[in-house]
Formats: sequence, structure tokens, C-alpha cells
Amino acid sequence: MTNQKRKRASSTAPKKAGDELTYSSYLALDELLRLQRPRSEPEHPDELLFIIVHQASELWFKLILHELEGLIALLEARDTLGALTSVRRVNALVHIVTGQLSALETLPPQRFAQFRGYLGTSSGSQSVQFRAIEAMSGMRDEHFLQVLKQHGEISSLVEQALAKPTLQQLFDDLLEAHDVTLEQIYAEPHQRPLQMLAEGLLEYEQGFAMWRFLHVQLVERIIGPATSGTGGTLGSKYLQTTISQRFFPKLWEVRSKFFNG
Ligand code: HEM
Repeated sequence: MTNQKRKRASSTAPKKAGDELTYSSYLALDELLRLQRPRSEPEHPDELLFIIVHQASELWFKLILHELEGLIALLEARDTLGALTSVRRVNALVHIVTGQLSALETLPPQRFAQFRGYLGTSSGSQSVQFRAIEAMSGMRDEHFLQVLKQHGEISSLVEQALAKPTLQQLFDDLLEAHDVTLEQIYAEPHQRPLQMLAEGLLEYEQGFAMWRFLHVQLVERIIGPATSGTGGTLGSKYLQTTISQRFFPKLWEVRSKFFNG
């Protein structure tokens, strides 16, 4: 055995009997499965579903943020194919987190009403990771910055995301490095890798908008169109206004150039 191999083997080997790595210890399942704590008394049978869909969404948000960081690094390194591979993964993750909402579509309004009071003022609008994803994707408008300040200090995760260049900016820089315009990458067949990356980013935008849309549908289906949220907004009326937000306005605008001259 080489020295290097011996070192590697000893660092992964169990230190003493009983320390063997197991499925449960590797995944920290004891901790993970203790974290679902329904607050309703007596416990409402549907609260576990509500908690798990939210917690699982936050886990996927964590991974989306991690992968977006990777995507940003690849765009900064001007690695088009790497960025394309990365954006495909991000899109798969966004589809998963969107699909999860369907589990809550099985929660009828009268049953949610039975435990909603136990949620107090907690609301998805306080999700720091969701705001960090939005910030990392490129939201910088005044309304967004106001929403961030609504819950006190802006968290460091969101601050860090705001400090990065937007995906649109990084994509613009990539085009500049290739000395091409957005219109050219759609018109010229040899620019296909850049075109595919542009389409991948557009799919990301669409996937995210799909989450927003299905979330509003879910909200209306469960609490109706005129009930305020636990976070104090107008509920679905507020959420409707977020669906048309764009991370990549230029990617949408360029399409019309092929029709309006
Ligand atoms: C019973 C199901 C759900 C209901 C009734 C519901 C309701 C609402 C409402 C009314 C709002 C507006 C803010 C407020 O005033 O509270 C909101 C925002 C939000 N919810 Fe949900 N929600 C549900 C499920 C989920 C799930 C599963 C997630 C996943 C993490 C989620 C994440 C969010 C986020 C991130 C926002 C902020 C959206 C934005 O400001 O653009 N919600 N939700």
C-alpha cells in the first residue's frame, strides 16, 4: 500500500467498534426524522403532510442554491457546455420542487382550517432560501428589495446572493466574450451551444414561474381567492402579481425581433 493510499484508508476507516458508518448515521436520519414537529393539539392528521412538503421544499431550495452557485462559477469561467450541463440539473430540481406541491392539493380547505391557527404568523414569504434563489437568479427591482426588508434585517445568505452578478449579466458577458449578439446566436447555426444555453436559462425561468403559478393555484384551492395570508399579504391577490416577474427579460424580447423586424 502506498503512503497516500494508507492515509486515505485510515481516514475513512471506523475508529473503534460500533463506529461503523451506516445508512442512518451517514444521512443523520435520527436528527432528520426528529425535525417534524406538528404543533396542533390534538395532533391534526394532515399537519405532518404540510410540514414535510415545506421541509422537503427547503432541502431542494438548498440544493438549487448550491447548484446556482456552480452555474455562476461556470458562467464566470466562460464555460458554455459546463453551464449548459449545470442549468439542466437546476431545471430538474425546480421541476421536482414544483411537483411536490401536488401532495398539498389533497388537503381540503376545511381540514387546513382545522390547524391553520397553529401556524401563527409563520409564512412561506419568510423563506430566506427562496429569496436567495430569487436574488441569485437576478431579481433586483425596487419591489423585491422592499419585500426583503419586510422581515427585518436582510439575511447574509440573501446579501451574498445580491452581491453576485445576475445570471442575465453573466450571460451577456459570455456573449460579449464570444463577440456575438443574442440575435446572432439564434440566427447562426454554428452558435448552437450558446443558443442551447439561452434556452436552458429560459426553461429555468419558465420552471420557476410554473412553481409560482401552481403555488397560487394551490393557495386559491385551499384558502380561496380572498383570504389573507398568515404572513399578512392579500394572499393569492398578492401572489398573482409575482407570476409575471422575469429573470431574463432580454431572452424573451429577442424573440420578437424575428417577427417584427
Ligand atoms: C397549504 C398550502 C399553502 C398555502 C395555503 C400557502 C399560502 C401562502 C400565502 C397566502 C402566501 C402569501 C404570503 C402570506 O401572506 O402568507 C404564500 C407565500 C409563499 N409560500 Fe406558500 N402556501 C402553501 C404552501 C407552500 C409550500 C409547500 C411552499 C414551499 C416552500 C410555500 C412557499 C411559499 C413562498 C416561498 C412564498 C413567498 C412567495 C412570494 O412572495 O413570491 N408555500 N404562501
